[in-house]
Amino acid sequence: MHTEQLVRSRAKGGGGAQDATAVAHPNIALIKYWGKSDERLFLPRTDSLSMTLDIFPTTTRVRLAPGAGHDTVTLNGRPATGEAERRIVAFLELVRERAGLAHRAVVDTENTVPTGAGLASSASGFAALAVAAAAAYGLGYDATALSRLARRGSGSASRSIFGGFALWHAGRAGGTDQEADLSSYAEPVHAADLDPALVIAVVNAGPKAVSSREAMRRTVDTSPLYEPWAVSSKADLTEMRAALSRGDLEAVGEIAERNALGMHATMLAARPAVRYMSPASLTVLDTVLQLRQDGTPAYVTMDAGPNVKVLCRRTDADRVAAAVRTAAPGGAVHIAGPGEGARLLTGDGR
Ligand code: PMV
Repeated sequence: MHTEQLVRSRAKGGGGAQDATAVAHPNIALIKYWGKSDERLFLPRTDSLSMTLDIFPTTTRVRLAPGAGHDTVTLNGRPATGEAERRIVAFLELVRERAGLAHRAVVDTENTVPTGAGLASSASGFAALAVAAAAAYGLGYDATALSRLARRGSGSASRSIFGGFALWHAGRAGGTDQEADLSSYAEPVHAADLDPALVIAVVNAGPKAVSSREAMRRTVDTSPLYEPWAVSSKADLTEMRAALSRGDLEAVGEIAERNALGMHATMLAARPAVRYMSPASLTVLDTVLQLRQDGTPAYVTMDAGPNVKVLCRRTDADRVAAAVRTAAPGGAVHIAGPGEGARLLTGDGR
């Protein structure tokens, strides 16, 4: 039997693989998730839709450590501390509760995404952790259950379970915890052949000043623009799905750009304001506008950080990347295409 199947079947058998390694990629939302309806269960206010990338993988190994008194978590070769450690241990507690197993774990994560800079490192991180931990503890989950589980680590991680385009259902807060939890998960979305690329302009790879969790909370609680954006985001999603299914890259880009800029407008109107855009971000925004005026379909999206992602055709990606590099020298520019969903690796790293 193929080793990967073996790991899966052992996990399904209930005993748990004990030792499992998974890889996951970040995703970038084209229809954004911004605002929770239940902070504890990570239920979002609105549905969102993303593209999983083929760059910046996170690889996570989870080994059960029977007899150990605590979890040991290593991030890029260093012991995890503070909030990062707390979130990972809380996630393992949830997995242990579900598995009915008390064993602590040794977690090793290699993350190639710049952490905390609005480049979705938590999405690939918790998607890889969910897949590896579920296998190690023998949960025997299918992709939908893994998506729900990943959501409990970081909302956007629910979408990185799937490759290509994924839609995350907001679900329904209220009712019992179990009903609410079951209602919110991601699923793959079919797109006609778009040949898309996301050109990622890293204008600042440092950690963000305000966490997305805090910024969402403040926006929902104080921004007069939040509710109107949530309403328009619903309409954006309907249009986005239609644009994806007919393979209309221009429409996909226009909808993604207005949805993202609208999200940033909600934060700018929060009290006090949350502003992730920097002068370098605005320079990239101007460059993209110019590219478009010159006939290249290119559209921006931005997350909880100053970095800008530019959606364009794969065949235009080198030109777009060169224009962005010239406009914002000093920053790194990466080109990503649609990537695969999270998966278990075999013992030899395949
Ligand atoms: O990474 P999270 O789950 O804290 O959420 C971040 C949300 C955005 O990246 C700003 C938007 C999105 O839908 O990914």
